[in-house]
Amino acid sequence: MDSFEMSKIAGAVLAALLLIVGSNVIIGARTASSPGQPVNGYTLPTDTATAEAAQAAADPVKTAEAPALAAPAKDGAAPAPAKDAAAPAPAAGGFDAKAVVALLASAKADDGAAGFKKCAACHAVKKDAPSGAAPNLWGIVNRPKAAQADFAAKYSDAMKAKGGEWTYENLALFLHQPKGYIAGTKMAFAGIKDPAEIANVIAYLRTLADAPAPLPN
Ligand code: HEC
Repeated sequence: MDSFEMSKIAGAVLAALLLIVGSNVIIGARTASSPGQPVNGYTLPTDTATAEAAQAAADPVKTAEAPALAAPAKDGAAPAPAKDAAAPAPAAGGFDAKAVVALLASAKADDGAAGFKKCAACHAVKKDAPSGAAPNLWGIVNRPKAAQADFAAKYSDAMKAKGGEWTYENLALFLHQPKGYIAGTKMAFAGIKDPAEIANVIAYLRTLADAPAPLPN
């Protein structure tokens, strides 16, 4: 056996060793992140996450990103921690209808009339005007729900079943999020986000009456 052959064998042995060591590293990385086992401080629930984590473990840039990526998911899992435990519980989504009612004393009906333009696409408001695609809203404040006579056959079952009158507070809840307040309503309107704008629109609705309802104290 000459030295050339010797070095060929030595090379082959070395290559085989490298292969074994190399695949051990890869296998090690994969098994280290099997489901349920913490990887970089994170417990991984699924197999797809495992593959990603194995990659992340091999890639320092990704690993550094991991906590930032996990943060929004954490926020979503624990929504709206109460800021002030002593405050009265706000409605779902953090919307406070009572705060809107409190704004009515200083709300501007004129601004509400401008804001009502998006409602006027569907709602008539003049006294005795026929209801079209939506119930006429003349006299809506404190009117029983689903009570507009010429719209009686068209109200959704959900609206008819809701019951009670359109108090300021109920109007605020409905206008903020129609489908949140009455799931199954036919009113195809997303809602108004700004509490001050809701108050203005309600202040305008209040003027649609021979004798406007008293403002809340
Ligand atoms: C796309 C058309 C549409 C728009 C825009 C719309 N509504 Fe309606 N609204 C309806 C329909 C339809 C109903 C009846 C819903 C039902 O029966 O479930 C309704 C019902 C109501 C009711 C209950 C009426 C009753 O007789 O009980 C109020 C109050 C109301 N809307 C106010 C508003 C206000 C204020 C706006 C604007 C911020 C608005 N709506 C925008 C279609 C609309």
